[in-house]
Amino acid sequence: MKTEQPLRIVLAGGGGFLGHALIQYMAHPVASFTILSRKRGEQTKGAKTVWWDGEHTGDWCKEIDGADVLINLSGRSVDCRYTEKNKRDILDSRLKSTAVLGEAINQVAKAPKLWINCASATIHRHAEDKPMDDSNTEFGTGFSVDVCKRWEDAFAKCDTPATRKIVLRISMVLGKQGGVLPVMMKLARRGLGGTMGSGHQYVSWLHEKDFAGIIAACIEHDDWEGTFNCSAPEPVPNREFMRLIRQAAGMSFGLPAAAWMLEIGAVFLRTETELVLKSRRVVPSRLLQKGYSFQFKNAADAITDLTQHH
Ligand SMILES: NC(=O)c1ccc[n+]([C@@H]2O[C@H](COP(=O)([O-])OP(=O)(O)OC[C@H]3O[C@@H](n4cnc5c(N)ncnc54)[C@H](OP(=O)(O)O)[C@@H]3O)[C@@H](O)[C@H]2O)c1
Repeated sequence: MKTEQPLRIVLAGGGGFLGHALIQYMAHPVASFTILSRKRGEQTKGAKTVWWDGEHTGDWCKEIDGADVLINLSGRSVDCRYTEKNKRDILDSRLKSTAVLGEAINQVAKAPKLWINCASATIHRHAEDKPMDDSNTEFGTGFSVDVCKRWEDAFAKCDTPATRKIVLRISMVLGKQGGVLPVMMKLARRGLGGTMGSGHQYVSWLHEKDFAGIIAACIEHDDWEGTFNCSAPEPVPNREFMRLIRQAAGMSFGLPAAAWMLEIGAVFLRTETELVLKSRRVVPSRLLQKGYSFQFKNAADAITDLTQHH
């Protein structure tokens, strides 16, 4: 795509953490960002917001017509108890938004040049033994992996001949104001930043500036297509990751939490231990092969950058 041209970018579900990160950090000249949101009257600095329901085509399809890039960031948060209702919402929000965007692309007069759909690095198996790259996926099992597979299948099923398609298997994005990092910093300052479980499980992470950088690279390179692990090249064991968090929080001590304690805590915090106990040792082989240069390769630099007051 001719990157010197200002771009028209549509962000479905762009009113959340990653949408804000993109709007803040996209380095390309962007003519306009349009967010598709289910909240009426929502306002985001630097973007226009248009209502959609995430399920049915409607007036919002006009925004897709002639857009340069469509990025789907929709999905009910997975940070919740996996009740039957929540599981259904987690799945439906991803499958339905993906399907209806595919439908919209095929309805409009001028299809977007590129469609990027978010996916998750949790599709890979629990891995402490070796890094999981994107050349030969070893799939995990269980509810989250099932969601990831069906989400990617829904995207693959959308036949959009005039639109280049990319799937980003994103790992935990670290940001200044959103996502998990501010929550972890708060817990660490209260003495709760200890090792979780055995501490041997790997944490795959990505700095928010690299998330925006990777999107920009996907736009720039017309020959990039298909599935990419979207993760920093150096995942770290939880024990080390939590040490870095404590260091950034100025705490020499953090209460370690055994797996059984986390199980109990998760009930009270309305979340699931899988989010911290699964070993995600994911590496971005394709991005590296294609020459993407990470701004933040190691977790220490990323955490320092995001937690220092500049
Ligand atoms: N952040 C990460 O570390 C990370 C890692 C891996 C994958 N991802 C994936 O990347 C995407 C964006 O992540 P994020 O951190 O920006 O999430 P987020 O802050 O929770 O934003 C997701 C957006 O999805 C929309 N949404 C929520 N429930 C929905 C539903 N039932 N139907 C349709 N849309 C719904 C919401 O938009 P409205 O309420 O405005 O409609 C919300 O702003 C998600 O799919 C997430 O699973 C994120």
